[in-house]
Amino acid sequence: MSAPLRIAIAGLGTVGAATAQILRDNAAIIAARCGRSIEIVAASVRDPGKKRAVTLDGIRLEADALALVAPDVDVVVELIGGQEGIARALVERALDAGKHVVTANKALIAHHGAALAARAEQQQTTLAFEAAVAGGIPIIAAMRGGLAANRIQRVAGILNGTCNYILTTMERERRDFAEVLADAQKLGYAEAEPSFDIDGTDTAHKLAILASLAFGVAPDIAAVHCEGIRRLSLTDIDYAASFGYRIKLLGLATLEDGALLQRVHPCLVPIAAPLAAVDGAFNAVQVDGDAVGRVVIEGAGAGGAATASAVISDLMAIAREDRYAPFTLAASQLQTVPPAALAVHQGCYYLRLTVKDAPGALADIAHAFAAQHVSVHSITQRTTEADRGAQVIVITHATNEAAIAHAVQHIAALPISLAAPVVLRIEP
Ligand code: NAP
Ligand code: HSE
Repeated sequence: MSAPLRIAIAGLGTVGAATAQILRDNAAIIAARCGRSIEIVAASVRDPGKKRAVTLDGIRLEADALALVAPDVDVVVELIGGQEGIARALVERALDAGKHVVTANKALIAHHGAALAARAEQQQTTLAFEAAVAGGIPIIAAMRGGLAANRIQRVAGILNGTCNYILTTMERERRDFAEVLADAQKLGYAEAEPSFDIDGTDTAHKLAILASLAFGVAPDIAAVHCEGIRRLSLTDIDYAASFGYRIKLLGLATLEDGALLQRVHPCLVPIAAPLAAVDGAFNAVQVDGDAVGRVVIEGAGAGGAATASAVISDLMAIAREDRYAPFTLAASQLQTVPPAALAVHQGCYYLRLTVKDAPGALADIAHAFAAQHVSVHSITQRTTEADRGAQVIVITHATNEAAIAHAVQHIAALPISLAAPVVLRIEP
């Protein structure tokens, strides 16, 4: 057997502690599959006094993460998080020193991935980030390997375990958003800053990385249109269900006439579609390729052990000297594709309008859609409460975002309108 691969882990929180634990628990099988063992020689934490769930016997504990870039370390594993600060400084220092780097940090890769990949190439080291997208699902390996022969047409995914856990738990247990978010934090799914989860930022980070692999572009986080789930109510979850849909926070990337459209927002998904069945903190990624057709991969998208599984898969590839460019193409070959505006998006829409229950209200609404050439699939008045008006649910045929935006603006300004319209996109 070859010499052990010597690693240093920065951060022993949810993912770091689970990584150390699994490396110990499954040491024999990991060594057998790599032809060498993986040995943790050092680690760093912010608070050395904190009680850890994992034993640190035989591991050098550093107070300064940068001290992990040491002569006895082959791979630096960055499990701190954050797009800047110590995480970025550590990854840059490690790559510049010729160390391999494994990270679960999607914020860092989405913002600085192309530059870090160029640095890794220059030093002929590996930069690997399987755990950064969809937790334990090996989607990056699949895109780099089994799907690599395809022209990818569309990538769509449930990419945030916290949001999927919140949406499915609200629906199933009929509980409040805030209460369910607190549960997700306790279970170790949520980011240090949970607004990253619920406002869609974390999904946007992962989508930018997936789009990079799918379309051969540098990750462009600034181009992702991003809406979260903060304003979703049980009312819309229930109405959607009554029309045969579930609401999911999706990340979607497509090429539209040579421009890249990347969007993150809640969507109505038909109940029979694979993505609608994804429950709890699970994630799923759906890739449409020209040769393979549609492939859907589902699995645990968050949590220590599942994410550690992906981290260790990267370490095992390094141990086996399986070398590849971080984004499949060399950094110099990553294209610059112009971002597409959301206004070009074509699809069906769900709208919930709160209006006065008065003669002519439906005619006013129908007129607003007709004026924008939007064809209505169904229009239903669901409840009438004397003091709160009527709830009118409209499902449209395929139309475009700009037409819907104009129609909604017009309806919101009508005297019959009692509350801001709720507008959700429907995805096949
Ligand atoms: P976490 O539980 O908050 O752990 C972070 C670790 O980093 C802790 O050990 C902390 O030290 C250490 N740390 C924080 N700030 C530091 C600083 N300034 N200097 C040195 N060490 C510092 O986070 P996590 O959930 O494990 O996430 C780690 C990374 O994995 C993030 O990039 C996250 O986005 C990503 N990720 C997480 C999941 C998940 O399900 N949790 C899934 C996929 C990817 P102390 O322990 O002393 O506080
Ligand atoms: N906070 C993230 C989530 C962790 O909920 O999916 C996994 O990236």
